[in-house]
Amino acid sequence: MQSNTPAYGSGSDSLDTSETANRSVRADWSAYATAYDLLSEHNPEYQAILHDFEAFLATIETPRIIYDIGGGTGNYTEIAARACPESEIRLAEPDAGMIGTARSKLAAHKNISYEALPLENIVGRGTADLVVCVHALYAMPAPEQRLEDMRRLLRPGGWLYLVDLGRHMNVADWRDYLFSQLKKKQGLAGALGVFWQGREIAKQNKAILKAQKNGVYWTHTEAQIASAATAAGFEIQRQEVVYRGYSDLLVCQAKP
Ligand SMILES: C[S@@+](CC[C@H](N)C(=O)[O-])C[C@H]1O[C@@H](n2cnc3c(N)ncnc32)[C@H](O)[C@@H]1O
Repeated sequence: MQSNTPAYGSGSDSLDTSETANRSVRADWSAYATAYDLLSEHNPEYQAILHDFEAFLATIETPRIIYDIGGGTGNYTEIAARACPESEIRLAEPDAGMIGTARSKLAAHKNISYEALPLENIVGRGTADLVVCVHALYAMPAPEQRLEDMRRLLRPGGWLYLVDLGRHMNVADWRDYLFSQLKKKQGLAGALGVFWQGREIAKQNKAILKAQKNGVYWTHTEAQIASAATAAGFEIQRQEVVYRGYSDLLVCQAKP
């Protein structure tokens, strides 16, 4: 597994200027937040994972404490809050723009608390019944240690619902796919309108690709993420390739 540079720290002193500049390329999650839900709403592949998560929740005993790690604008938190009204849902999200959007969107739900922290700074051990982490692990520093953090948060037998972008984000491929989906539903003018409003997404996806190519963001095969999850103390109950082949979905349980 490649190692990541710290997401919130400084780079190494030994890097020259251009290399330092290169390795500082990351997504600007606050800029992403401005249009995140607009395109997610129109992305059938994003919606398919939300539905899968909701269906998964219906198959397990109601989790009492749920963490949504790197929860972004709160779409998974919202499903959990609705499906498990008696549960305590903790949305952990270090980006101010993302968590701000989540807070205002989910204000009506009283069973959600917000932790404006990266995973590596969250304290807690063995209390969670479910950890959800969708499309966030790849952007974290040292993902194998972050998997250990998720294991630490869970009680033995607790669930991890993990989806992670593993392959290079082909920006043109996603643009063509989303455009054709939108055109089918809203016509050419409608598709162009959504693309214009969501133009920040293409910019941030390019930054993600750059960070993947520089090794700042983690890329992995199915087998690599499976072995990282196993090494972190998880038993994999289900694994699938999702998101048009770009991502891996793993449903795991924390080993005692
Ligand atoms: C692509 S968004 C995914 C949001 C949400 N999970 C979803 O699928 O809609 C990735 C999120 O990971 C968050 N993130 C990045 N580094 C993180 C870290 N070290 N700990 C927790 N979250 C992190 C970002 O701030 C961003 O909001």
